[in-house]
Amino acid sequence: MNQIWDPVRYASEAAFVATLGAPLLDALAPQPGERILDLGCGDGTLTARLQASGCTVVGVDSSAEQVAAARARGLEAHVVDAQALRYESEFDGVFSNAALHWMPRQDLVLAGVHRALRPGGRFVGELGARGNIAHIVEALEAELAALGIATLGLSPWTFPGTDEFSALLQHSGFEVISIAAFERPTPFTRDLADWLTLMAQTHLNAAPASARPALLDAVTRRLRPVLYRDGQWLLDYVRLRFSAVKRA
Ligand code: BEZ
Repeated sequence: MNQIWDPVRYASEAAFVATLGAPLLDALAPQPGERILDLGCGDGTLTARLQASGCTVVGVDSSAEQVAAARARGLEAHVVDAQALRYESEFDGVFSNAALHWMPRQDLVLAGVHRALRPGGRFVGELGARGNIAHIVEALEAELAALGIATLGLSPWTFPGTDEFSALLQHSGFEVISIAAFERPTPFTRDLADWLTLMAQTHLNAAPASARPALLDAVTRRLRPVLYRDGQWLLDYVRLRFSAVKRA
């Protein structure tokens, strides 16, 4: 993946990720004294909320910059590839918001989460579902194609359907308690170029640096009639939310 996270920009331009993911904390229902793993903890905004409920929380993320930001809040956080977790039967719950879709080998992630949980442990998460940001991806690919740049296999994102993800959970040793996909048009009050620069670096970096400003303009022009309403962008997010337990 060709993506670098800048915690300062992330905190000011992507605070909505944690805000909109916060209801997921209720689904996990963390209890005082429990040991919880926050998978893809980012800058630790929700990790801190988990810790505030009296749990011991370990955050992991593949971004050294985001892990440093989480540690700066006084949290325990580690740079870890979630596709190669090495924890063994030591967590009561695993929580993950808006991170799993950055991990192409979701089968390896789920196998590692299963190993990390105690029997009966909970796994609660949310990720982009099939169709997530479909208009944005289509516009990026169309404008890259117009520059003669191939996009086959370029996307860093994996957005599964509920059928696919449910099967993967069950195959990995989980009982699925609930799973649902839903459209969640996501307000973004800044320029779309800011979202693209923060989140779609793999696509943007496929173009030569000199071509990127025009690429951002072209993608924005293409998407404005589709995703811009009443003075703000409404991004075409589709979420997959699930709750599962490790079969004993
Ligand atoms: C998401 O949270 O669905 C998402 C965020 C950035 C890029 C792609 C998807």
